[in-house]
Amino acid sequence: MERLQKYLAECGVASRRKSEELIVNGHVMVNDIVIKELGTQISEKDIVKVDGVVVEKEDHVYYVLNKPTGYVTTVKDEHNRPTVLDLFSEQDKKYRIYPVGRLDFDTAGVLLITNDGAFSNKLTKANFEIEKEYVARVEGLVTKLEILDLKRGVVLKTGYKTKECKARVISSDKRNNTSLINIIIHEGKNHQVRLMCDAIGHPVKKLTRVRVGSITLDDIPRGCYRKLKIHEIKEIMGR
Ligand code: URA
Repeated sequence: MERLQKYLAECGVASRRKSEELIVNGHVMVNDIVIKELGTQISEKDIVKVDGVVVEKEDHVYYVLNKPTGYVTTVKDEHNRPTVLDLFSEQDKKYRIYPVGRLDFDTAGVLLITNDGAFSNKLTKANFEIEKEYVARVEGLVTKLEILDLKRGVVLKTGYKTKECKARVISSDKRNNTSLINIIIHEGKNHQVRLMCDAIGHPVKKLTRVRVGSITLDDIPRGCYRKLKIHEIKEIMGR
């Protein structure tokens, strides 16, 4: 048995709160009887309709995409730019998948895609402590002191002070006056890594997310995706 509004939300009809509104406003029928009471319990045998259309639970699907630059991390873009969903087959898109969190248009790498709201919530909740690892090619030669600043937290131009993180220089290219750095953060403020690099005076030229939790790019080619493995899903859901 399950509460009607929870069932509707899990079927992807609407959020839990919007589902409650649908119920109260008389849009929902159970076995062809309009139900307006919140908290009505239903079982698998009951037939639920919203505005006359049967709603059923969809299977949950989970993917990791190696996002290329030049794609927006939304389901639909108001400026008609390519979206990350354009990289998925029609068959896989039938599951009403969407990206979890965001990567900038110009950022490449690990992006999780699902149709499971609970999974997405776990990952995007502000206090959720999953590691996100980035490799950035930045302008100039980054010093040890600047790395220490990154590690301790820097004040972004938004006024936000970042939490402690891990950071190191992978290599310095004196000829081209650039550095390759690795940054591991737990937070997910908008443009966080770019703003952190700006804060130490080394703007990002190229940014790739190489890991979320234990999920890495493996050998997924750019623009391609694979299903998450059971243990990868459990690692996130178990938190
Ligand atoms: N930090 C950024 O600045 N951009 C991203 O896309 C991800 C993290």
